[in-house]
Amino acid sequence: MAVTGTVAATALAQSVPAGTVADIEERTRPFGELCLEGEDCGGEESAPAVVAVPTGRSGADVYASACKICHETGLNEAPKSFDLEAWASRLEKGMDELVRVSREGLNLMPPMGACMTCSDDELRAAIEFMTTAPED
Ligand code: HEC
Repeated sequence: MAVTGTVAATALAQSVPAGTVADIEERTRPFGELCLEGEDCGGEESAPAVVAVPTGRSGADVYASACKICHETGLNEAPKSFDLEAWASRLEKGMDELVRVSREGLNLMPPMGACMTCSDDELRAAIEFMTTAPED
């Protein structure tokens, strides 16, 4: 008496929720493809780096692609970009300490400011960029 029941191996649908792939692509876009608000986004490399960084991205670039999302609005009490008062007490720690904290994270500030490819120099440039008055 053979048991004839066949269990169809149902292929588990490897479904990815809509938008996920696009979201990841958006988040992992190479730097430089993002365009600073108010800038000419035509592709010409027009914005001068605020801080001279011999190698790597400018503070403005790193800021726009990694830090702005929280610091522009002060999300989760992040010190607001260009708000010199908000940064004053932080700056008292010294730039080296701020770079260290940025690398390691602090409470709701993610390690590396979520810029996982950032060098210390790039983090520093981004911090310097958002802790000084905006250029016009
Ligand atoms: C997900 C949101 C988020 C992102 C992205 C983010 N930050 Fe922050 N950041 C915060 C928050 C929140 C704080 C305040 C942390 C606290 O004091 O508890 C903070 C604080 C800081 C501080 C102050 C640290 C201190 O010791 O007082 C520095 C410097 C900083 N961020 C740099 C950066 C840089 C540079 C980037 C981009 C490379 C970045 N952040 C991206 C949320 C963010």
